[in-house]
Order: sequence, then structure tokens, then C-alpha cells
Amino acid sequence: MDTSTLRRVLLVEDDIGDAELVGEYLAVTHAPRHEVVHVVRLEEARQLAIDSGFDVALLDLRLPDAAGIECVRALRASAPSMPLVVLTGLDDEALALDCIAAGAQDYLTKHELHPHALTRTIAHAVARAAEAAARARADDLQARLAAIVDASADAIVGIALDGSVSTWNHGAAAMFGYGADEAIGRPFGEVIRAAPGPDSEHQQHRLEQTRLGRGTGVPEELVRFRRDGSPVTVSIVTSALPNAAGEITQVAVICRDVTEVRRQSDELRRVNQQLLERQRQMRALAARLSAVREQERKLIAREVHDELGQLLTGIKMDLRWVQRRIEAKSASPRALVDRLAETDALVDNTIATVQRISVELRPSALDSLGLVAAVRDEARRFEARSGIATLVEVGAGLPSPPPDVATAMFRILQELMSNVVRHSHARSLRIALREVDDQWRMEVHDDGVGLPVGATTRSDALGLLGMTERAVAIGGRFTIRTGESGGTVAVVIVPMHGTTA
Ligand SMILES: Nc1ncnc2c1ncn2[C@@H]1O[C@H](COP(=O)(O)OP(=O)(O)OP(=O)(O)O)[C@@H](O)[C@H]1O
Ligand SMILES: [Mg+2]
Repeated sequence: MDTSTLRRVLLVEDDIGDAELVGEYLAVTHAPRHEVVHVVRLEEARQLAIDSGFDVALLDLRLPDAAGIECVRALRASAPSMPLVVLTGLDDEALALDCIAAGAQDYLTKHELHPHALTRTIAHAVARAAEAAARARADDLQARLAAIVDASADAIVGIALDGSVSTWNHGAAAMFGYGADEAIGRPFGEVIRAAPGPDSEHQQHRLEQTRLGRGTGVPEELVRFRRDGSPVTVSIVTSALPNAAGEITQVAVICRDVTEVRRQSDELRRVNQQLLERQRQMRALAARLSAVREQERKLIAREVHDELGQLLTGIKMDLRWVQRRIEAKSASPRALVDRLAETDALVDNTIATVQRISVELRPSALDSLGLVAAVRDEARRFEARSGIATLVEVGAGLPSPPPDVATAMFRILQELMSNVVRHSHARSLRIALREVDDQWRMEVHDDGVGLPVGATTRSDALGLLGMTERAVAIGGRFTIRTGESGGTVAVVIVPMHGTTA
């Protein structure tokens, strides 16, 4: 409703003469105009006030169904925000003040009744009620803001111009360990402590700058200390709080605990670095494997070329010799037979060389006779080649592993043997193959110098890494360490069903 043009007035008055007088007085003014609804009883007034949208009520205190301050209380209860002007024949200052306390906006005694005074009193009451409503809304907003600030897990702290704490929410109490009663009034730096020295000076400087309106408003991540001395990593924002006149009278400091976030991001960085390192290792391992394969091919090519080539050339020359002699009928049968016997020996030699080379490529025992036989053969060859006494112990009734497990264990053994020759200075080697708790277990123990410190954590120990990877690929585990009584002990464990994980 447009209050500047029409004001709806609820007149509660049992004296008809007075009511008419009020109606006449109000009819005189045109800006605003007044529309008067007159009732005699308080009960009628209460019913109307609840939902009829009056701009103001004029209330007599002597009614047929109620009297005195009760009239004010009852009407106020029905329409809490409706402006109320008490209109009374009693000239009682104390009662009037009681009425104001009970919620009336103003009062007017009937002797004072006069068109101008009446409209002015009504206007004041309306304005006062509007102001009170606005104030209530502001108070409500403020209370809600305060509740939000208090409920925040962030520390939200107000600082007065002298550097002392002026407000301190629950978040601040939880974060720094001081209650509001302990923190308020104390210098800021005493309850949100920075490390002494540059950090502390920086905090002071930043506060000063903010106070002078030169703050940046940019969050800073810093370490502060709780009451118990433990550190907390916080993201701090400092901002100036101007009053209604635009003067900076307070500085707000908001601290968010980022200890966990920081820890997580550090952890993430660490894991990432590990992943990168692992990637690099895998690349190096792949490169090493391909280099080893090339080297092996070169050796085999040389053997095929040098040894087999020579043998076959020898056989060819013998055959030519025999052929020529037969054509020229120049040799005795005896000489021919002797020569063919030599050729036969050369062929035997060739067959043996072919076998050796093929065993080096892949021991056929591994496929035909299984892991144990292949290990025994390999041990024999190793001993002959290196002069290191090699013993193979096999647990009774050891089931033979499937081909992929057998191949992996065999290749690990070869790698271990190559390390023994190159690094251990061992005189003897013991290889034990047995079943333990449903697992194949191969233990390779030399009596050499043992592993140098840090050998297993070196990122360039590609031989060890390759053995580990081979074991993992078949669901097993590889470990290597210096033995209690010296030497080096390597163990490969592969579960017979499932993995060791
Ligand atoms: N049986 C052993 N006795 C003593 N030290 C060993 C033995 N096996 C390995 N080591 C040590 O562990 C290190 C790492 O072995 P690894 O097989 O990974 O690398 P490498 O033999 O030096 O090089 P690569 O195998 O790549 O040719 C070796 O350099 C050596 O110092
Ligand atoms: Mg090696």
C-alpha cells in the first residue's frame, strides 16, 4: 500500500463522540489521506489487526472488554509490527511510559487531541515502527553473520588499530588453542605466533600495511604456532574493515588450516617422483635387456661363424680330398678309410658344437626334463667354466613348476651366477630348490664377499631390478641380502597357487 497517499487507521474506541471527533480530525488532512475503521471492543480490534493490514492503530485504554496496559499488550501480541498509538482520557505519565514499554509507539491524551497533533503523532509512530523493523532486520542479519563466522572452521580474527585482538571465533580457538576470553585484548602476535625473526616482522609489517589501506588481499601460506607449540600451516588473508564513514577501524585476519592439504600435496609429489623414477628404471631395464640380447646374438654369430664354419670347412676339404683321390685312383683304400674316419670325427665335433650353442640359447632340459634337470646341467657347466664348486640340493618330491615359472627361475639363476662370477670372489655356490608352504623356493648362496652397502637400493642395479621384475611377473618375490655367515643369499619364492601379494 502506498503510505504517502492513504493510511489505514484502526480506531479502537468505545466513546462514540470521541470516535467521531477523531474521524473528523483525520478527514481534514489530505496528504496522506486517512481511512478509518472504527471498532468498540478490543476483541474485534484483535481479529481485524491480525490480517487487515492496518498502517496504525489508535487505542483507547478503557474498553468494554479490557482496560489499561492489557489493551496494549493484547493488541501488540495480535499484530507485532503494527504501529500503535495510545489514545487515553487519563493524563497519567507513568501509565503512558508503561504503554511505550509494552510496545506502543506513542501516546496522546484526549485533551491534546487536535488535528495537527493527531496526524503528526500517527506519522511519527509509523516512522518509528518502520525504523524499529529495519533495525530488527539489521540485528537479525548481524546475528546470522556472527553465527556464520563463529561456526566457520577457519580462524576469523578481528584486530583493533592498536594491534590487539577484538574478535576471536570458535575456529580460531580450535586452531590456536586460546579461548575467546583469553585471546581478546591480547596483542595479535601473542596468540597467532610466527617464528621469531623475519617471519614475525613480516606479520607485523603486513598488518601495518593493511591498516594503512595498502593490503594486497592475497593469501599467503605460512607456518604459525599453536598454544602448545605445535606448528600449523595456514593460508592467511588479511583485509581492512572500514566503518560506515570509510575509515579503517579494524583489520580482519582469516587463517585456513592447510596442514593436511599441504601434507597430501607433498605426498602426491613424492609418489609422482617415485613413479617417474620407476618409469626411468623400467626404460633402463628394457634398454639393458635389448643390449644383452644383442650381445648374446653377437657371441652366437661369432661361435657359429668361427667354430661351426671352421668345422664345416674342414669336412668340406676332407670330402674334396677323398673325391679327388677316388677320381685319380691315386689313393689306397686304407688311406681313404683313414681320411673318412677323420671326417667322421669332425662331424661329431660339429654336432657337439651345435648342441652346445643351442643349450646356451635355451637348455632343452628345461623343456624336456624340467627345472631341476636344467639347473643341474647349468650348475655343472658353471662349475666347469668358473672353477667355483657348485652344489645343487633338491627337496624330495618337489613338483615341477609350469614352464613360465621354470623359465623365470632358470633365467634368474643365470643372472645370479653371472653376478657371482663378476662380484663375489666366492669359492663355492649352493643352489637349493624345495617346496615350502605351497611355494617353490630357490635359494642361491655363495660364500663370497657379500653385498656392498646400498646395493639393493641403487637405482642403477638393473640386474637386481630385472630379477625382481621376473619374479613379480610370475606372481612371486625376489630378495637378495648378505648372509648371516657371510656371502650373498638370493631367494626366489613363487606360490604354487595364486600370488604372494
Ligand atoms: N653375489 C654377489 N656378491 C657380491 N656383490 C654382489 C653380488 N651380486 C650382486 N652384487 C653387487 O650388487 C650390485 C648390483 O648387481 P646388478 O646385477 O644389479 O648390477 P651389476 O652386476 O653391477 O651390473 P649388470 O648386472 O647390469 O651387468 C653389483 O654391482 C655388485 O656390487
Ligand atoms: Mg649383474
